[in-house]
Amino acid sequence: QTPPPPNGTALPIPELITVAADGETTIAAGFADHAFIKDKPARVAGYNGRHLGPALRLVRGQSATIRIENKLDRPTNVHWHGLSVDAKLDGAMQPPLAPGASATYKITADQSSATLWYHAHVHGSVGRDVHDGLAGFLIVEDPDEIGLGLPSTWGVDDIPLLIQDKDFDAAGAPVYAPDADAIEHGFRGRTVLVNGVREAVARVPQRPVRFRLLNASSARTYRLYCEDERGFDLIATDGGYLPGPVEITMLVLAPGERAEILIDFSLGSTNLMSTPDVHEHRMGATAMSLPDVIDKPFRVCGFDPFSDNRPGTKRPDRLVVLPPADPKTAVRRRRFELKSLAATAMPYAAGDHAAMDHTTMDHAAMGHAGHGQTTAQPTSRTTSGASDGAPRPALGINGKAFAMGRIDEEVGLGTTEIWEIVSAEMAHPFHVHGVQFRVLGEDGGPPKTWNSGLKDTVLVENSAELLITFPHRADRSAPFVYHCHVLEHEDAGMMGTFTVS
Ligand code: C2O
Ligand code: CU
Ligand code: CU
Repeated sequence: QTPPPPNGTALPIPELITVAADGETTIAAGFADHAFIKDKPARVAGYNGRHLGPALRLVRGQSATIRIENKLDRPTNVHWHGLSVDAKLDGAMQPPLAPGASATYKITADQSSATLWYHAHVHGSVGRDVHDGLAGFLIVEDPDEIGLGLPSTWGVDDIPLLIQDKDFDAAGAPVYAPDADAIEHGFRGRTVLVNGVREAVARVPQRPVRFRLLNASSARTYRLYCEDERGFDLIATDGGYLPGPVEITMLVLAPGERAEILIDFSLGSTNLMSTPDVHEHRMGATAMSLPDVIDKPFRVCGFDPFSDNRPGTKRPDRLVVLPPADPKTAVRRRRFELKSLAATAMPYAAGDHAAMDHTTMDHAAMGHAGHGQTTAQPTSRTTSGASDGAPRPALGINGKAFAMGRIDEEVGLGTTEIWEIVSAEMAHPFHVHGVQFRVLGEDGGPPKTWNSGLKDTVLVENSAELLITFPHRADRSAPFVYHCHVLEHEDAGMMGTFTVS
């Protein structure tokens, strides 16, 4: 192995597992010992014995089987965030797997090349579970999009960066116990990690390098730039490539979002930086600005360029054809207002789902078997840092907190709609399962560069209009959901369900 770079930790690269052509792979959710701070191993979670998960690569059109096993001591499940599949394969609204149980997903990816991800999605504990490490990359590769001239050697010039923020206790263990304030505004940690390490430094060849950025943080939005302020190319958003590279000097990446960029290290070294996430909270005409727990620009990832005597790839002019987003194709409009509810309403508790007690189930074969119908009872909160005894904020969409078993919207299969998303008090990253949408406009203007391609999650500062086509079926027993991807908000009820039929 290469010696550790000065001032930092060598960036670990998650294993890339291609599950192609009838291949099968297993990811086992379980505990892992991981030292975030030198010589202070902490027990966290992840897959296959490690903190965080391997990168799973699916090839478009090829059937792949992914088995998930639960080796944790609590229920878990896995959601394929950004994957365009029927809701029975979506993973989020199926009953979670009890400890010891497993489930099999037979998936044939049918979408463009994209950097997606997977993570645990048990309502009420998504924040804790993703923070704990139950997340990994899911990469779709379209054979027709190979050969676009992009760097593509995994871990060498095609480098995944999973970004999270944490706080640690004196023993070096991450602390996740959001109080009422952190639920209302989202949890922000003081230390930023990439692929599970602090002060990450990546060895990079002195030529253009592709980075697949994933914001797997609970609530922190990164405003990313190169320390020397050089331009870099944005080549892909959540759901795939842009028509061509777009040079930018700053990229906003909200929780749940991904982006692919090219940084050219033939121009010398630099660092990937972010500004603090100053949080604006509006109440009617007044707005207050809450400072970040990190008070100055910080390094997300350092780079240590070396020469490998290989020529750099030429910047491609064009990548893919992305049809224009045409609002005239929409057959109806819906409006979703994301807002806090009265603080006394506590309509959820962790573990609302009844965990499955059988050892295996084949989601692909489940059909209408009546799973996922458990109705949430207004119970007192049992987990997730309820230690301060303070009333818990509840959050909702259109005045309602999430309720298991209630269907909020019914959408026609194959139709296109305009969804208007309104963030009343603060910016929320809005995510829709089962689709890749286009942003028609935001805050009264055109979409920002990083929202101009295929998206499944978009940071809604004030308002946004999304053009969404619904190609996949979802029935009442396992609907799709839409929610805020600030995980504390999702867990506190800022989520709704929809069927597609
Ligand atoms: Cu990445 Cu419903 O989530
Ligand atoms: Cu999702
Ligand atoms: Cu939110």
